[in-house]
Amino acid sequence: MLHVAPSLLAADPLHFAAALRDVDAAGATWVHVDVMDGAFVPNLSFGPAHVAAFREATDATLDVHLMVADPAAWVDPFADAGADLLTVHVEVDPHLHRTLSRIRERGVRTGVALNPLTPLETIRDALPLVDLVLVMSVNPGFGGQRWIPASEARLRRVRAWRDADAPRTLIQVDGGIDATTAGPAARAGADVLVAGSALFAGEGTFAERHAHLCEAAREGRDAPEADPTPDRPAG
Ligand code: DX5
Ligand code: ZN
Repeated sequence: MLHVAPSLLAADPLHFAAALRDVDAAGATWVHVDVMDGAFVPNLSFGPAHVAAFREATDATLDVHLMVADPAAWVDPFADAGADLLTVHVEVDPHLHRTLSRIRERGVRTGVALNPLTPLETIRDALPLVDLVLVMSVNPGFGGQRWIPASEARLRRVRAWRDADAPRTLIQVDGGIDATTAGPAARAGADVLVAGSALFAGEGTFAERHAHLCEAAREGRDAPEADPTPDRPAG
């Protein structure tokens, strides 16, 4: 499966209902909702009341990315609001097992996220317990940042672990996804590509931009891998 998930952070704040209509009309079945608390990241964004309102307006999977210092405290409010998936950052949760268990108890899918330099090993044992691993490809907190190139190698490592230990777990990438980076991200292993600024601004309609990113992702995923070790000359 391959999804391009629009990030509402980049939508016009006066027109979220219209943005969700665009998302549905484009055939996007995931919507990414960034929750920021001004503590874990230096910005503020959506809270449970927004998620409840989005829930009323769309049947898409509400993928809620918790960029908060105390994720355990927010599981119930966002589950009550109608989140389908709750992703917590490994950097701030010393009791990840407990938090993930609580999310599952609430009937919500689980995700775990890593900042760009957080050692990948910190989530390896969590892989069989999560529905999704989010590899951040920018520093969280703001839309419109540039893709960090080292993210590609990180996606590949997570994919190898996923394929070996938890084949049903999805890999998500978030930050700096555009028509140039979508292909390499999908090729490196991302199943769900979050995109904000590349979808909510630019040429053409929202549906055209979404289709363009989906196509770039699909082409990248299906492109043959370059052989890293060229054949030695015979003899
Ligand atoms: C960044 C957020 C992202 C953001 C991505 O902290 O987690 O979801 O919306 O925005 P773009 O696609 O503009 O990099
Ligand atoms: Zn996000």
